Amino acid sequence: MFDSAMDDFVNEVRERSDIREVISRYVTLNFKGGRYWACCPFHNEKTPSFTVSPDKGMFYCFGCHTGGNVFKFLSLIENVSYFDAIKLQAERLGIDLPSHKKTAAELKLEQKQKTLFKIMTLAQDFYHNNLVKTAAGETGRKYLEARGITSGVIEKFKLGYAPDSWDALTKALKSRGFDDRYLFDAGIVSRKQDGAGVYDRLRGRVIIPINDINGNVVAFGGRILGEGEPKYLNTPDTVIFSKGKLLFGLDKANRAIMSADCAVIVEGYMDAISLISAGIENVVATLGTAFSDNHARLLTRYTRRIILCYDSDEAGQRATIRALPMIQKAGAEVFVAVVPDGKDPDEFVRKHGKAAFENLLKNALPFFEYKLQYVMSHADIYSYQGKIRALRELLPVLAEIKDVMIQTEYRQKISAALVLDENIILDELHNFLANAEKKLNQKINPIAEKPEAQENILARQAGSSIIKKAWYEGDVLSYVLGYVPKEIFLTKHREILSYLEKCHEMGKHPNDLSAADELSEAANAELSRILASYPVNFSAADDKAYEDSLKVMRLIYVKSQYENIRREVEESYNSGDEAAYLEKLQRALEIQREMEELKFA
Ligand code: CTP
Ligand code: MN
Repeated sequence: MFDSAMDDFVNEVRERSDIREVISRYVTLNFKGGRYWACCPFHNEKTPSFTVSPDKGMFYCFGCHTGGNVFKFLSLIENVSYFDAIKLQAERLGIDLPSHKKTAAELKLEQKQKTLFKIMTLAQDFYHNNLVKTAAGETGRKYLEARGITSGVIEKFKLGYAPDSWDALTKALKSRGFDDRYLFDAGIVSRKQDGAGVYDRLRGRVIIPINDINGNVVAFGGRILGEGEPKYLNTPDTVIFSKGKLLFGLDKANRAIMSADCAVIVEGYMDAISLISAGIENVVATLGTAFSDNHARLLTRYTRRIILCYDSDEAGQRATIRALPMIQKAGAEVFVAVVPDGKDPDEFVRKHGKAAFENLLKNALPFFEYKLQYVMSHADIYSYQGKIRALRELLPVLAEIKDVMIQTEYRQKISAALVLDENIILDELHNFLANAEKKLNQKINPIAEKPEAQENILARQAGSSIIKKAWYEGDVLSYVLGYVPKEIFLTKHREILSYLEKCHEMGKHPNDLSAADELSEAANAELSRILASYPVNFSAADDKAYEDSLKVMRLIYVKSQYENIRREVEESYNSGDEAAYLEKLQRALEIQREMEELKFA
């Protein structure tokens, strides 16, 4: 599994990363008692229980039990994968990713993608020529003209027209040497029912090329001329196109988005085209799919201020409500621009012009305000139950508002709108936060033990102390595990011990990096907790704790043995096997004696 160049790369990034410096970009750290402290960025709290131990390269929160190394921290706070966190940190440090040798499968895929790009470009030229140069394109030209789309915009977006023919495109591309198979894989043709051959997928429609972030044509949308169903027909997902991960127009809008430090999202590509041609350039559109986490992450690379401007019909409002928290979770501030009188952005800007639309954007409502309006217009606010239901819908948004002044202001707004006592709102908010914290714990620590039985608590303390010792002194492991079988330890401790054994065998010191690599989330957080709660140096008291812990674990083991042997004693007695009975009894007495000794030790 190890590519040594990759290994060296990760090690270098790790070595050059100062966890204290990285974390202090996100939270303010205070030094106290040999460690740094802060209020945890992963759960809501007022007194700091989040700690950073730079010498161990680890962080741990005593409140929500999240912990790990610098990459784990970055992956959580930036909401990216562990590997992406490494890459992100490498980028910040200016360390290049090692070049990676491509596998045969990767090369084959790349080859295929190249061919599909070529096909799509040729198809785009075909459609575009049809629109601007042929007699058949006349209907398309008329349609676009009626929608106020100028020839400048037609050129900018390379809009086209698919003639009303079953094979015009197929023929054109076949004559360029591409076979059915490739045309099909590019998504521009469909297979005939009887399996013999293919036919053009888009016919008699205005064509809107869809580009990836690099400007490659990867799909087409087709708008029917006038009325009819379906209004829009898009080419399907392919190896170069995934509609849930692409935002229409981003290849053209990204600079405008960065310079305005704001992105406007609309529902349809016609809206985007219309706004861009009106001079509002920081616009992107989804492709007839719901707004997703992927979209949010794509956009937050360019800006952290996002304005949703969907149709103001019921479906558009619902889509807005669903998209808002996703954008917020990706770390962006999010607003809603409401288009008046049921119009969509395209119709609005054509009727009222650029300045009026900019005004809509300027007056965009913050997430909370929009949600409040939405809830107010959809809830039964005359019954007490209805009020509470409405309130509960608002809580997730309210809870996200970290600014105390603004939160207070919003609480007052809710109170006024729902005619509800502010104390009720506060109580509900506190309940909500407590529940959210519980859920977060479960998510971050999925195999965390349930409220622990007495024995589990003992096993956890004892196991922790043993792990601390073994982290620094791998030699003790063989003794420990000879004395207490590994199965007796809690699952996550077992995992850590196996990892420590492996390090010891390989003659390597355990460290946060290889631990993060090999351990499950739960075991990693546990290890961070164990190391974080450990003072800088071993003391006699720690050694005593370690010795006692061994005895505690041994007692747990011996007890379980005793349960087994007692059953066996009974069985051999019942079966009348006297020799076996005496032997087992002897063993049971030995175990009993050890149990007594351990208890009084
Ligand atoms: N859409 C789609 N397939 C449909 C209908 C809609 O893929 N059958 C997608 C398109 O991306 C479209 C968006 O959903 O742009 C919004 O749909 P709608 O509001 O119905 O279309 P408009 O953008 O208003 O299109 P037009 O102005 O051309 O009527
Ligand atoms: Mn429209």
